[in-house]
Amino acid sequence: MTFELPELPYAQDALEPYVSAETLAYHHGKHHAAYVNKLNQLVSESDIAGRSLKEIIAETVGAPDKKAIFNNAAQAWNHAFYWQCMTPNGGGAPGGELGARIAEDFSGFDNFRAAFQAAASGHFGSGWAWLVLDGGRLQITATSDAMTPIATGQHPLLTCDVWEHAYYLDYQNKRPDYVATFLERLVNWDFVAQRLAQAKTSAVAA
Ligand code: FE2
Repeated sequence: MTFELPELPYAQDALEPYVSAETLAYHHGKHHAAYVNKLNQLVSESDIAGRSLKEIIAETVGAPDKKAIFNNAAQAWNHAFYWQCMTPNGGGAPGGELGARIAEDFSGFDNFRAAFQAAASGHFGSGWAWLVLDGGRLQITATSDAMTPIATGQHPLLTCDVWEHAYYLDYQNKRPDYVATFLERLVNWDFVAQRLAQAKTSAVAA
């Protein structure tokens, strides 16, 4: 099986001025592509051919001799998920059942936003901030480097990439500004709601 770089779900300049076409050209066309290409190379040289991306992640997490495969597989999955978490004219607060769930589990949307902002802005080093469904409850979590919640049985609903390559061209060292803009202008709440609905109809995380 050869993995392919998924197309962006919007034009490369569709998220401007919040995420530039230049950032997406590098982030999707270079960084994400490199993870996919490296994964294909590593898998071809290994004994784990014929697996899906999720199967590879599940099989290699925590295995010292498979760390490079895990890192590239998880980064391939995380990035494909991240692109779907953004949309032109996104952001703000969700309505419907999702909005009600967030309000309930975080004691209000403002508390959710502050907690997500803190998790993403305060993450030390490279990684990801997530909204996940874990044991029937919404939670905010952060993972380092390539680590992904699907490796630990959580069901991801939303992620923000906080590796410097996600924001440095547009925001330089001002990661909090990037995260605030992500929440206010970019989050694809329709996608997050779809993910929440999927969690109800499937016992399989992610
Ligand atoms: Fe990234």
